[in-house]
Amino acid sequence: MKKILITGGAGYIGSHTAVELVNAGFEPIVLDDLSNSEAKVLDRLEEIVGKKIPFYQGDCNDATVLDRIGNDHQLSGVIHFAAFKAVGESTQLPLKYYRNNIGSLLVLLEFMQRKEIKDLVFSSSCTVYGQPDELPVTESTPRKEAESPYGNTKKVCEDILVDFVKSKPNMRVISLRYFNPVGAHPSGKIGELPIGTPNNLVPFVTQTAAGIREKLTVFGDDYDTADGSCVRDFIHVMDLADAHVKALSFLENQETNYYDVFNVGTGNGNTVLEIIETFQKVNHVSLNYQIGPRRPGDVVKIWADTKKINQVLGWFPKYTLEDSMRDSWNWQKNL
Ligand SMILES: NC(=O)c1ccc[n+]([C@@H]2O[C@H](COP(=O)([O-])OP(=O)(O)OC[C@H]3O[C@@H](n4cnc5c(N)ncnc54)[C@H](O)[C@@H]3O)[C@@H](O)[C@H]2O)c1
Repeated sequence: MKKILITGGAGYIGSHTAVELVNAGFEPIVLDDLSNSEAKVLDRLEEIVGKKIPFYQGDCNDATVLDRIGNDHQLSGVIHFAAFKAVGESTQLPLKYYRNNIGSLLVLLEFMQRKEIKDLVFSSSCTVYGQPDELPVTESTPRKEAESPYGNTKKVCEDILVDFVKSKPNMRVISLRYFNPVGAHPSGKIGELPIGTPNNLVPFVTQTAAGIREKLTVFGDDYDTADGSCVRDFIHVMDLADAHVKALSFLENQETNYYDVFNVGTGNGNTVLEIIETFQKVNHVSLNYQIGPRRPGDVVKIWADTKKINQVLGWFPKYTLEDSMRDSWNWQKNL
């Protein structure tokens, strides 16, 4: 069984990817400092996959921890999720974001070279496109100046990977540009665990439905979209997890010094109001929400062109928006 290190594997996307890796016959090894997750995720993972997943609590910026993992396990690849991701906080604490998000990638790449580990999948984001001039966005749509230090860390990390692979390190690397991950494992045992006030729409929706938040505010209903609210491409986290498995399997068959980027979305845009409506309909709950003013810096509309990942990696989403809303609510209820 091929062993894959998942940095940030106790987090939202990493934990679901651990499940999909086991399902595909890989053996995941999790490294997480639990700065934005909880150790009990590992117990939940064990319940889902029926076996213990090796777990190291530590910082991906710490080469000694990585070396320990590398000595304990013969790794064939790495998926690098570990990063801070709160856009708002990154504008207040930019150095924290640059240090963690960029620093951890550098330490990881040096480790991979030391241990001759070839394959890396990196978590990038559609944030690199900013508000694109044309929709849907393809991988060759020009990246825009980042709206936040967080967004910039993703751009800089992509650039580092391009330069690194050009230097012929004998590695194969894919950056996946995620659109908006939503949903949870259908078992309801793992899902998104926001600490404090959620930054993303769907956890805010589920927490409002659960009575944890009093009211949901929709930021603007007068944009140039079907119903005036912003448009995003919401991708079920299990589909996103599967994209990592497809990316790793694809890398195994590439020549070394390969680098490419892929969008991971559904190819469809949905408005914020559609999300609310679908959530209410699927789950038979009513949501206390109000329309508020536009939020400065919000991208109005973005969705992915997914032809490249469909054709090259053979990846297609299987879950619907209804599935996402049902699974998100199921997870919130279990919480
Ligand atoms: N969720 C999204 O909307 C979204 C969208 C695009 C890209 N991404 C990217 O995907 C990745 C995973 O996101 P997520 O939503 O699962 O976030 P998350 O916060 O749930 O998971 C990240 C995990 O990394 C851990 N971590 C952070 N810094 C670490 C470090 N230095 N060493 C070890 N562990 C560390 C955290 O404790 C957490 O468990 C991130 O790189 C994020 O920027 C997320």
